[in-house]
Amino acid sequence: MSVLKTVICGDILDFVEDPAKGQDTSYRYFSPGVLVIEDGIVQQAGLEADILPALLAESSDYQIQRYDNKLIIPGMIDTHVHLPQTEMIGAYGEQLLTWLTEYAFPTEKKFSDEDYAREISKRFLDELLRNGTTSALVFCTVHPESVNAFFKESQARRLRMIAGKVMMDRNCPEDLSDCPETSYDDSRTLIEKWHNVDRLSYAVTPRFAPTSTPEQLQKCGKLLEEYPDVYMHTHLSENGDEIDWVKQLFPEAKDYLGVYEDAGLVKKRSVFAHAIHLSDREMETLACNHASIAHCPTSNLFLGSGLFNLARCEKHDINVGLGTDVGAGTSFSLLQTSSEAYKIQQLQKHKMSAFKGLYLATLGGARALDLEGTIGNFLPGCEADFVVLDDHATPFLKFRLPHTETLHERLFAIMILGDDRCIQETFIMGESVHKRDL
Ligand code: GUN
Ligand code: ZN
Repeated sequence: MSVLKTVICGDILDFVEDPAKGQDTSYRYFSPGVLVIEDGIVQQAGLEADILPALLAESSDYQIQRYDNKLIIPGMIDTHVHLPQTEMIGAYGEQLLTWLTEYAFPTEKKFSDEDYAREISKRFLDELLRNGTTSALVFCTVHPESVNAFFKESQARRLRMIAGKVMMDRNCPEDLSDCPETSYDDSRTLIEKWHNVDRLSYAVTPRFAPTSTPEQLQKCGKLLEEYPDVYMHTHLSENGDEIDWVKQLFPEAKDYLGVYEDAGLVKKRSVFAHAIHLSDREMETLACNHASIAHCPTSNLFLGSGLFNLARCEKHDINVGLGTDVGAGTSFSLLQTSSEAYKIQQLQKHKMSAFKGLYLATLGGARALDLEGTIGNFLPGCEADFVVLDDHATPFLKFRLPHTETLHERLFAIMILGDDRCIQETFIMGESVHKRDL
């Protein structure tokens, strides 16, 4: 069979390191540049003048696609999002615990119906791709049907996705409650069925400490022991009332993270959403176990949860990715999410560059998901998921962008002003899967 060879021409930008460790060596920018892809895998990225003539002299098989003056970045990575909450973004007026009971739980009940879950999965994945998000770590619901529907739809679209069945056996409505044994059995069946199938991976998904008994958390730990390369995905230290509640429910634990530690849930491939109000001990424990944080700025502002301290994570060298946390988050766009992350840092007198914002949305996310070398940048061997950005997407951007001079000014304007309208085209494994309507 012949190999599908493609050359994408444009302004190629990716990250090879965290800008906090040295901004100038953290990114690569090739303008005008090329991205060379064979059978969905990146072969090389570089300046057009260095690569294209030699490539064409060697072979005439390359299909050339030109996006002159358009930025081409790796597909963005959402490290924390809830599939079932797609239909209830923007529910008014509550903080975390009442928001969950008033809005989130009632919506999640609908996902016992696999057909319904499939319909919402389609809408959800369409929305991710429209926003330039090509991979995500996803909460489904307590129903195995929701996971089957989500994975089937992701598989049909050849997407790299990580997801899991919510485990919760207390402090939730009866019809959303499982029990330690059934949650273990159902999760195991789903792992056997889906984990490492095509581009799919499984995440053991206890909702958060208040909705699991210690017995259920132990079962989560057992799953992680039996399947060492599956993910663990939960919430941590988001809201003051939640933290007080965890203290009451688990009086023996050292602190909130200690609850998860006691069950063996803090490890590489463990991703904790929010992690806003952590002690130094908790930060150190995350760092030395190579666990990751999904920072969810739009959600933290919407629910009034608090200000995430990025500088502290940089100091402790903790992997951080960005999460939209839809439906407490208010946008599917990781550009918008980066913009809100910037403002949260501003409120704490910490300057977050556009380089850092785009790093968090791409390589930072890949690192948080232990997928560096697979997605997140354009180094040889990476899967060719990428996005063509249009920074003239609206009449106002068309006016504003010519007033930028440096690369950073251009990226910062896109980060602060951009959204789904700036996503001109999204590619999965080298193939176009979304083109914006003009
Ligand atoms: N903590 C436990 N469940 C949830 C949820 O669905 N959303 C958010 N933001 N926090 C949670
Ligand atoms: Zn969440």
